[in-house]
Amino acid sequence: MMITQPNTNCSKCSRLYSFRLKNAEKYIDWHNAPVSSFGDTDGQLLIVGLAPGLRGANKTGRPFTGDWAGDLLYATLAKYGFTSGKYGATAEDGLKLLNCRITNAVRCVPPENKPTGEEIKTCNKFLIKELEGMRKLKVILTLGGIAHSAILSALDKRKSEYKFVHNGSYRLNKHLQLVSSYHCSRYNTNTGRLTQEMFETIFESIKTKL
Ligand code: URA
Repeated sequence: MMITQPNTNCSKCSRLYSFRLKNAEKYIDWHNAPVSSFGDTDGQLLIVGLAPGLRGANKTGRPFTGDWAGDLLYATLAKYGFTSGKYGATAEDGLKLLNCRITNAVRCVPPENKPTGEEIKTCNKFLIKELEGMRKLKVILTLGGIAHSAILSALDKRKSEYKFVHNGSYRLNKHLQLVSSYHCSRYNTNTGRLTQEMFETIFESIKTKL
């Protein structure tokens, strides 16, 4: 099933739109547009990140592709059998996701990696479409507090009932579970807030839920 993605010229968020235009002048060969979700719409696992990194997804056009967060995420996905092919940090590397899809709470790169509340809210309609379109979805993995809260908004769930914690695990309904993790950003791994072992534990837990 096709899931509606923001169009390439989306200008619903004026700040993000003008940031994209500025980047498009500076970095003419880069994607510099909303980044569509990647992977299997029939997948049982949906991974939700924050927003494209300037020199990562905003450059390559594929979520988590081309930056540190992606190096860790794709290596871990490979280890747990969610990929086929080799991750090569470009959208043309031929990598396929197996039983899994990756999206972001906000589809355009935000200045300083910080989307505003209004931008997160505006982009939430695309997250709702992802959830509606993934008919076999069983587990949602949120990377970081913003993704976690965006998913709860998209599902119309109370934030107080599903607190963001690392390795949180919640049942959302009969078919759907939510797992929360610290974001696999360079900042979090450099500061030791998230280690590779901690991240792998998240995927061990997801495997038992699928
Ligand atoms: N790249 C993405 O696409 N999303 C993130 O959250 C971080 C890096």
